[in-house]
Amino acid sequence: MQQISGNPTAPRLAVLVSGHARGSNLQALIDAHAAGELLTSVVLVIGTHSESAALERARCKGIDTLVISPMKPGRTETEYGDTLLQALSRRNVDGVCLLGYMRRLPLTIVAQFRNRILNIHPSLLPLFGGQGMYGLNVHAAVIDAGVKVTGATVHLVDEDYDTGPIVVQQVVAVNDDDTPETLAKRVLECEHKAIVEAVRLVMETGIEVVGRRVITKPTTTSQEHAP
Ligand code: GAR
Repeated sequence: MQQISGNPTAPRLAVLVSGHARGSNLQALIDAHAAGELLTSVVLVIGTHSESAALERARCKGIDTLVISPMKPGRTETEYGDTLLQALSRRNVDGVCLLGYMRRLPLTIVAQFRNRILNIHPSLLPLFGGQGMYGLNVHAAVIDAGVKVTGATVHLVDEDYDTGPIVVQQVVAVNDDDTPETLAKRVLECEHKAIVEAVRLVMETGIEVVGRRVITKPTTTSQEHAP
């Protein structure tokens, strides 16, 4: 069992995004913090490409942004990992969120931030995950498979694609007339709630990881302690 204690003060989060990320999940975290629903604040957004709507959203809010391209000529996986790690350490971040980040994270980052890295995925994992499963591909596969429910998953990141212990899932019904686009829209609304809840649990409340299971601590109220 691994106990991951939360930070009840003001945890600092970095967000990683790939080139095409719109940044709507990032926006959900920014809005929840501004509304006082989340103590955790996003202090750094790192993109793989400079042209990204997510980076633009961050800049508009005065959040630090960096472009660190894994594709830079001559750059190895190890050097990409070291560059990311340096950026995260310099900002003193407590955790990392992958919000529309379509690569496998360098192993050094996984090791350094174990159980403090979250990834959001637009299906009910372990179904419809893995390499190549992103965006509308996921929803098209869900419809083709004929399943009646899908949803959003936020999980802890381990060494592989979409395989880490699950923190939060939200279920969405698949309608007979759904297209990948209509389904994506409803799932995205759930993603925005799921990511805020998962960040609160992992970064603020604290969790226990028992095998593949994430146990969320019961929140005690003063009433529960009353005689
Ligand atoms: C989200 O739907 C997220 O689940 C997906 O990328 C989108 C990013 O949207 N991630 C994956 O498919 C990872 N396999 P956003 O930029 O609007 O937050």
